[in-house]
Amino acid sequence: MSAVEAVQVTKKYKGSESFALNNISLNIEAGRIFTLLGRNGAGKTTFVRICATQLLPTSGTVKIFNNDLIKDTEKIRNYISIVPQEGRPLRALTPWDHVYYWLRIRGLNKYESSERTKKVLRDFELYDVRNKPSMYLSGGMKQKILVAMAMATESKLLFLDEPTIGLDPVSRRQIWKAIKEKKESGTTIMLTTHYMDEAEVLSDDIVIIDKGIVIAQGTISDIRNKIKENIKIEISKSGMDMETLKSYGSVIDTGADILKLFTFESNIQELSGIAIKKNLFFKVSPITLDDVFVSLVGSEPNNSDDSHVN
Ligand SMILES: Nc1ncnc2c1ncn2[C@@H]1O[C@H](COP(=O)(O)OP(=O)(O)OP(=O)(O)O)[C@@H](O)[C@H]1O
Ligand SMILES: [Mg+2]
Repeated sequence: MSAVEAVQVTKKYKGSESFALNNISLNIEAGRIFTLLGRNGAGKTTFVRICATQLLPTSGTVKIFNNDLIKDTEKIRNYISIVPQEGRPLRALTPWDHVYYWLRIRGLNKYESSERTKKVLRDFELYDVRNKPSMYLSGGMKQKILVAMAMATESKLLFLDEPTIGLDPVSRRQIWKAIKEKKESGTTIMLTTHYMDEAEVLSDDIVIIDKGIVIAQGTISDIRNKIKENIKIEISKSGMDMETLKSYGSVIDTGADILKLFTFESNIQELSGIAIKKNLFFKVSPITLDDVFVSLVGSEPNNSDDSHVN
């Protein structure tokens, strides 16, 4: 069953010359974690807000669990929750108020609301500050309140737009755990993130958007296979002949003294031989999602730190 079915969705903001979304068609299977990746301004938040009934598309259709976004808006709102990219908790309200009253508004009884609020605040280490007005809390704590509100609900579909932004590594993992638990209980999750480790840990499916267009789509391994080579070698630029390197695979100039070479395992021995002879820095590692992302969307010189040499 599809949780989200978007067909040829476009969005042109008022007064804007270009399309923020340009014919996006996507299908998100229920019960999966679906991650949108893309550079700043790619259109991720625009897409999330359209699917979460916060913004109207310019054209195209979106169905959420087979309900039309425009005709059945109220019905859809009953079973979705969103952590917006730039949300802030209300200054005078406490973490407890935010989560508890949010659940009450959504129809849960006092007991259930209180139990769930306790659990989620404990999970996210907000319990000790539960009665402090949020204006006295740190930036990360405020962010966690917003995530806690969405996580505490029984929504069938969660939209998490950069949920772990500004969080410390331990807090990020608490949120990852909560996201995984949600998935295990059958919830569908649409996630956006700029942290590739987060995308690797959580995603079942990934879509990479660039300038409002889908440029790659599939499971993590489908995306990784967009690079035909299977290993990454980092090697000092100085003293290395570029033509020789290129004969082994795709060379990425990182701008620093170290080059990246995507190549095949069968070439490791020969290449390490060259490096040892010349006494050069040499490191072999797997190709990461980060590498694939940069090679797919970061190749334009004015848009990226890394640029392709070949
Ligand atoms: N309210 C708005 N009015 C006009 N243009 C907008 C508005 N919101 C976004 N845009 C434009 O739409 C495009 C897509 O923006 P969007 O916020 O969807 O990107 P994003 O992928 O979420 O980026 P980021 O990773 O920085 O959050 C950008 O060119 C942006 O300038
Ligand atoms: Mg965004």
